[in-house]
Amino acid sequence: MKDKIVIFDTTLRDGEQAPGASLNMTEKIEIAKQLNRLNVDVIEAGFPVSSKVQFDSVQRIADAVDTVVAGLARTVDKDIIAANDALKHAETFRIHTFAGTSDIHMLGKFGSDRYGKTLTEKRNNILQMSCDAVALAKTFTDDVEFSPEDAGRTDIGYLSEIVEAVIAAGATTVNIPDTTGYTMPLEFGQKISALKERVSNIDQAVISVHCHNDLGLAVANSLSAVTNGARQVECTINGIGERAGNASLEEIAMAIAVREDLWDVETDINTSEIFNASRMVSSFTGMIVQPNKAIVGENAFAHESGIHQDGMLKDNKTYEIMSPEQVGVTASKIVLGRHSGRHGLASRLIALGFSPSEEELNTVYQKFLDLADKKKEVFDDDLRMLMGEEVSIKDYSHHLDYLHVNLGTTTIPTATVRIKTDGKMVEESATGDGPVDACFNAIDRALNSKFHIESYQVRSVTVGRSAQGEAHLKLKSGDKSFSGRGVSTDIVEASAKAYIQAINEYSIQGEVNELLEAVTAP
Ligand code: KIV
Ligand code: ZN
Repeated sequence: MKDKIVIFDTTLRDGEQAPGASLNMTEKIEIAKQLNRLNVDVIEAGFPVSSKVQFDSVQRIADAVDTVVAGLARTVDKDIIAANDALKHAETFRIHTFAGTSDIHMLGKFGSDRYGKTLTEKRNNILQMSCDAVALAKTFTDDVEFSPEDAGRTDIGYLSEIVEAVIAAGATTVNIPDTTGYTMPLEFGQKISALKERVSNIDQAVISVHCHNDLGLAVANSLSAVTNGARQVECTINGIGERAGNASLEEIAMAIAVREDLWDVETDINTSEIFNASRMVSSFTGMIVQPNKAIVGENAFAHESGIHQDGMLKDNKTYEIMSPEQVGVTASKIVLGRHSGRHGLASRLIALGFSPSEEELNTVYQKFLDLADKKKEVFDDDLRMLMGEEVSIKDYSHHLDYLHVNLGTTTIPTATVRIKTDGKMVEESATGDGPVDACFNAIDRALNSKFHIESYQVRSVTVGRSAQGEAHLKLKSGDKSFSGRGVSTDIVEASAKAYIQAINEYSIQGEVNELLEAVTAP
């Protein structure tokens, strides 16, 4: 019998902390449902105390899935109470509390004298705060995880002490984060093994690891920890997360599956849902997967050289250590055409990992027919975009109703937009440096807005001259950024949709954030 590795997915918490990766509520719920299909063991859904948006999304995700859902909390009573309030209606849930334990974190984050004047006093206080937090969480749920943040750079003596104390206080999982991605695989593995030797009650908790990718070693470090006794791995789809990201779920799951001959462990991941999960996260976050990314990159199963192609024709094992089907990659298909029915569309969308409601299906079907009129071939990725757009714009109040652009080599670009905003129509025109700028100016007039555009990208979704274009845009207001995405066979229209979506995000999140105290995410 192999030991099970618990897969703790933190795409919706640490992943969403990636710069520019913010997700709206409907997108988070769709991703959570896909993680459920992927069969992860725990979904970390957010940091409830940090904002009303976070609180609500943790609550809604816990309602939407039957996986264990975790909420993050500092070792502060109000954080733990907020996590419980967000999760308490779920059948089973986990509270995950954390405190910085390296000297650098102690002296920086806990620099104030109220945590103690000397390093020893600070260490004692943090240890006590951590145990109190675990004990409080334990009054709400049996499933409590503690993370000594920056464990990778924490002195092993103190790390062992705090791990032993929180287990005694009731922690059932002790997570060892390499928060800054500093350690080397051998060193990190030894850290896990040292904890097993030094912590007398270690067998009363699951050892987990949470590795960041600053030196590109997050997956290697996680696997080295597994070799040394870790039995939970924290990871994200496509490896998204703070800075260089987290360990990538698909790489961990496939390394364990492909090299089953090496491991005395296994995961319960339904690997055939990996590709759908990857595409969904990429399209909702706007974080493009690099073509050569292991497992899910566009080139991961492409064979270019003649020798390789010849070998593959003779036996695909010559150059493939896993099959594309194993991770859910199928050849990009022309799925449906102008005469396809709603039923055909619905079953293809479900196969791609979506769960369209009747209402969503009606709208997407109409959009699909429009697209099939414009394009000869409709691919899976086109459907992903249509459905993704539908999911993304559902809760918004401003929608593009009409767009007209005048442009030529000797004319000043002029755009007219009609926007449905809170039930009424507003129409405005404006000129600009180019057609996109003219659109943005017209939208600003219609919505009485003016934003600085921080980043703007357009890419083709599928192939050919009639391919859809996807625009991603980030606008800035104060120190906050809001992202939007738009898809159309016309890149100017895609850009206008992306701008309106970002303004919608600003309207939702900007207002909500003003009501909240600022809580910095870890
Ligand atoms: O990187 C980190 O240390 C974290 C903790 C909250 C687990 O994200
Ligand atoms: Zn992290």
